[in-house]
Amino acid sequence: MRTLITNIGELTTNVEAGGDPCGTMRDAAVLIDGERIVWVGTADEAEAASASLSESEPASAQVDGPVERIDAGGAAVIPGFVDSHSHLVFGGDRAAEFEARMAGQKYAAGGIRSTVAATRAASDEELRVRLHAFIAELHAQGTTTVEIKSGYGLDVETEERLVRLAAEVTPEVTFLGAHVVPAEYADRPDDYVDLVTGSMLDACAPHARWIDAFCETGAFTVDQSRRVLEAGIARGLVPRLHAGQLGPGDGVRMAVGLGAASVDHGTFLTEEDIAALAASETVLTLLPGVEFSTRQPYPDARRLIDAGVTVAIACDTNPGSSFTSSMPFCIAVAVRDMRMTVAEAVWAATAGGAAALRRDDIGRIAPGMRADLVLLAAPTRVHLAYRPGVPLVSRVWKDGTVVA
Ligand code: NIG
Ligand code: FE
Repeated sequence: MRTLITNIGELTTNVEAGGDPCGTMRDAAVLIDGERIVWVGTADEAEAASASLSESEPASAQVDGPVERIDAGGAAVIPGFVDSHSHLVFGGDRAAEFEARMAGQKYAAGGIRSTVAATRAASDEELRVRLHAFIAELHAQGTTTVEIKSGYGLDVETEERLVRLAAEVTPEVTFLGAHVVPAEYADRPDDYVDLVTGSMLDACAPHARWIDAFCETGAFTVDQSRRVLEAGIARGLVPRLHAGQLGPGDGVRMAVGLGAASVDHGTFLTEEDIAALAASETVLTLLPGVEFSTRQPYPDARRLIDAGVTVAIACDTNPGSSFTSSMPFCIAVAVRDMRMTVAEAVWAATAGGAAALRRDDIGRIAPGMRADLVLLAAPTRVHLAYRPGVPLVSRVWKDGTVVA
């Protein structure tokens, strides 16, 4: 099946050109064949390119039937959003906690435990139905790749259920047994770390690609977090870390030292943290929904980007600190309150997310990449921040198939 999207007023390719990291093209067209993008160029070359690609293919590779043509009508097309941080498998919600917070209460890591109780009580089927509803919700908002963490089970059986269910919908599964110390281990946290690095890791590693820990006051110390990441690495998982959400600490530099793909949150960073990130391959993933929903100060993305840090944006969809699944909303907040330019924020939500997941097949619109694209109901990507809260995602392709 081939699809030719033409008459694209503004195409964000993220293939750097002439100093523009977004590789912006005007009056563009994209040709999709099956799951991949096969051609990108100007709209007036599109028909010729499509015909010549058909002719040049061996008969065995030729596709039957006509090319489906989509006229973008001058609207913008961007890569599908890559949301590199979410917690989508859980039971219950914490609306009352949010309401209390908006009335003045402070966010604390301990709220996670109430979701743990609801998650343990939910059946696989209940969790699966909800997870699929979240995936549909993400697609409708332009997200085509999502990373999903466990972390609301905190016992071997439930953590295994969570990573197994997550693996049904994404290859980007993260084992986060070290999310918080569960109540039954409250007075012996090191025993819980033994469990996480032992039989829980044994049960979860086969379903996961990533290992993570919540390195924060009220959750895990730097030493405990390091033990967890190192145990995961020894099992072939790749590290990423929650750090700097509630205050500064040594977690960021520890994760950079272990070659983490990403450090997430980074609300509180020291100059040393920023220098370490800038000198590394580790992405700093900002989570604007968290600051928004917990009334914390926003990190200064401008300072990070100017210092040379690679920045991604993710939603961190979870029932406690950030219950939005909208990348357009997070882009708008990052632009408004974290001092990112629109181009930087859109890049961070697409190519940045791909970098945070060490993926080179998504986050860009170029021949050979997965055909993950979003057609906006707007002439430029600026509208994502300029029209906050307005549903501007008009069509979404994932692997060449329309999903919204
Ligand atoms: O990324 N920081 C740790 N985990 C989540 C919050 C989880 C919760 O409050 O339930 C986060 O913000
Ligand atoms: Fe998180």
